Amino acid sequence: MTSSSKTASPDAGGGARIELRGVGVRYANAANAAVHEVDLTIEAGEFAVLLGPSGCGKSTLLRTINRLVEPTSGTVLIDGADVLERDATVVRRGIGYVIQAVGLFPHYTVAQNVGVVPQLLGWDAAAIDARVDELLELIRLDPARYRDRKPRRLSGGEAQRVGVARALAARPRVLLMDEPFAAVDAIVRASLQDEIARVHRELGTTIIFVTHDVDEALRLADRVVVMNAGRIVQTAPPDELLARPADAFVRDLVGVDPETRRLVLERPLIER
Ligand SMILES: Nc1ncnc2c1ncn2[C@@H]1O[C@H](COP(=O)(O)OP(=O)(O)OP(=O)(O)O)[C@@H](O)[C@H]1O
Ligand SMILES: [Mg+2]
Repeated sequence: MTSSSKTASPDAGGGARIELRGVGVRYANAANAAVHEVDLTIEAGEFAVLLGPSGCGKSTLLRTINRLVEPTSGTVLIDGADVLERDATVVRRGIGYVIQAVGLFPHYTVAQNVGVVPQLLGWDAAAIDARVDELLELIRLDPARYRDRKPRRLSGGEAQRVGVARALAARPRVLLMDEPFAAVDAIVRASLQDEIARVHRELGTTIIFVTHDVDEALRLADRVVVMNAGRIVQTAPPDELLARPADAFVRDLVGVDPETRRLVLERPLIER
């Protein structure tokens, strides 16, 4: 094997670069656009967090990336390829997607849930089995104990972990997460944040994560993308966002007390 083809692990594929160019969305019969001509580039391997109040267009913008929402204008490029020119189903299978209502299939075991996309992609059974075990270990659920459980025998936090494993199963280079941890209590949420930060470090997947929780955004993001009323108002790393909020809206959102926010940022929950 030549050194150029050597990879550290089967997951070392890293992440894809995402470019949104003039992406606008107006839903049918809506008086106003949900998203106004947004330009945003997310670098390969970046952890970007979309932050903003309810209804500002975070989910809509996120869903243009995996074609769950068709933009009314503009283009979405993944590693330079226009997603609108590719088959929507193929695009979707290549992108991990995690939402608040985990949506595990209740009659499938954990292993069957995690293996859904590899199955659709025609992987052979042994490869799926191996991948399921690898992912359950990655999200710290003992395969021997969890493989054959049905979702109703999982806690909320465990179900969310399985949702993350399922989204990662086919080694996507992009992972979209829409308020994935909003439904669990604060302690479980902190541990899930820790897990996803570690997974991101280990796999280098490009992650776009939606939240309206400022602390969650500041903890996780390489860059925070602040949205208001369908527009991006600031894109900046957490420390810059705190030090130099672009306007009064951002200042109010991240809090009038920057010292307190800094303490939050410096919490040793996740090594940054
Ligand atoms: N399927 C839809 N049809 C029509 N309008 C929609 C649809 N989905 C969302 N909207 C509207 O588009 C706007 C943006 O919604 P979106 O769900 O993207 O907001 P959000 O920032 O994700 O909010 P939240 O934090 O509450 O999830 C809102 O005004 C919403 O009412
Ligand atoms: Mg939303």
